[in-house]
Amino acid sequence: MNTEELLTTTRSVRKRMDLARSVDYAIIERCLEIAIQAPSGSNQQKWHWLVITDPDKKRAVADLYRKSFDHYLVRSQDRDGVERARQSQMLDSAVFLAEHMHEVPVLVLACIEGRVEDKGVAAQASLYGSILPAAWSFMLALRLHGVGAAWTTLHLVYERETAALLGIPENVTQAVLLPVAHYRGDSFKPAARESARTCTYWNNWGENRS
Ligand SMILES: Cc1cc2nc3c(=O)[nH]c(=O)nc-3n(C[C@H](O)[C@H](O)[C@H](O)COP(=O)(O)O)c2cc1C
Repeated sequence: MNTEELLTTTRSVRKRMDLARSVDYAIIERCLEIAIQAPSGSNQQKWHWLVITDPDKKRAVADLYRKSFDHYLVRSQDRDGVERARQSQMLDSAVFLAEHMHEVPVLVLACIEGRVEDKGVAAQASLYGSILPAAWSFMLALRLHGVGAAWTTLHLVYERETAALLGIPENVTQAVLLPVAHYRGDSFKPAARESARTCTYWNNWGENRS
C-alpha cells in the first residue's frame, strides 16, 4: 500500500472487526513504537498507553461506553431528518460497536499527563496536540498489519469512573479509546468528502485563492 492510499482509506472499523481473531500483542507494541515518533509540545512525550485485554476490565469499560452511547443515540434521534439520514449508516455501525465493545480483542486507551479543563485554549491545544497525532499514527500503523480501530470518545462522559476502574492517576487525561481488531476484507475507500477547497481560505477568513 502506498502512503497516499494509507492516508485516504484508513477508516473507523466497526462492523468489519473480526471479533473471533486475537491480535498478536507484538503488533500492538510495534505500532506503539511507531506512534511515539509523533510530535509533542516541547517534546515532552507525556503520553501513556493503557492496553486493556482483561475480559472483566474490557466489559466494565464497554458498559460505561454503552451507557454514554445510549444517551448519544437518543440525542441523535432528536436531530432533523436530513442530518439523521446523513448519519444513519455511521449510526448503524456505531450501534454494532457499542453492542460488541466488550468482545473486541484489545482496547487501547491513549492518555497524557496533565489536566486542562480549567485552562485556556493554548493549554488545551498543547495537551491534546501532544497525544492525538500519536494516536492517529497508531491507527495508521495498525492498518499496515491488517488491523483496524475505531476512534471513540463517548466513554469520556464517564472518564472519572474509567480512571477508577483502571487505576489512572488524577492528573492524567484520557484522550481517545481505540477498540482494536483484525478486519475482514480490505476494500476500504476514500470517504466522500467535499473538496478541501470548500473549507480553505487564503490570507483572510472566507476568501478563496485568487
Ligand atoms: C473526536 C472524535 C470522536 C469520535 N467518537 C466516536 C465514538 O465515540 N464512537 C464511534 O463509534 N465513533 C466515534 N468517532 C468516529 C467518527 O464517527 C468517524 O471518524 C466519522 O464517522 C468518519 O468516519 P471514518 O472514520 O470512517 O472516516 C469519533 C471520531 C472523532 C474524530
